[in-house]
Amino acid sequence: MAAESVNHGRRRFLTASTVVVGGVGGVFAAIPFISAWKPSARAVAAGAPVSADISKLAVGTQMTVAWRGRPIFIVRRSEEMLSGLAGEDARLKDPKSEVVEQQPEFAKNEYRSLKPDVLVLVGSCTHLGCSPKLHPEVQPEPWDSQWKGGYYCPCHNSRFDLAGRVYEGSPAPTNLAVPPYRFESDTRLVIGETEGAA
Ligand code: FES
Repeated sequence: MAAESVNHGRRRFLTASTVVVGGVGGVFAAIPFISAWKPSARAVAAGAPVSADISKLAVGTQMTVAWRGRPIFIVRRSEEMLSGLAGEDARLKDPKSEVVEQQPEFAKNEYRSLKPDVLVLVGSCTHLGCSPKLHPEVQPEPWDSQWKGGYYCPCHNSRFDLAGRVYEGSPAPTNLAVPPYRFESDTRLVIGETEGAA
């Protein structure tokens, strides 16, 4: 009798296990349908490329446009701002822009841009998404006595240089993202498309 009740117990356990596994399988079986449906929904939400007139963007200043609901910073960098980027590698987390998700291939260079003087960045801190503020002046700042100009995120003290490269010691894990973009002319950018795109 004792063996009989043990067997019943095992049978109940196996039945329960099968139901649970079957339930999990049902969840996984549903995932392909959700995945197949997602891209078009994302594409709808993504929004179209935006055009930006940079003809009045003065050297050393920044303008902001919205793309996909996010701020895009466009900065006209001076020769001094560009020269300040050299020599900072030892203080940066990813000086060579090795984290591929953070920029298109064309921006994997020392200036992280198509043209050296025009910087284009997603204006969202890679820590928790606050908006970093441009502090272009080369001067000691409360957050960095050797400040060469760049972006400072006041939420949790992340610091980025004038190419959006994140400094060591910042909670932000990666450089600011460079969005896809191309020059339609010398004075007009298209954010959301790359060279060669229609
Ligand atoms: S959100 Fe920028 S440092 Fe935390």
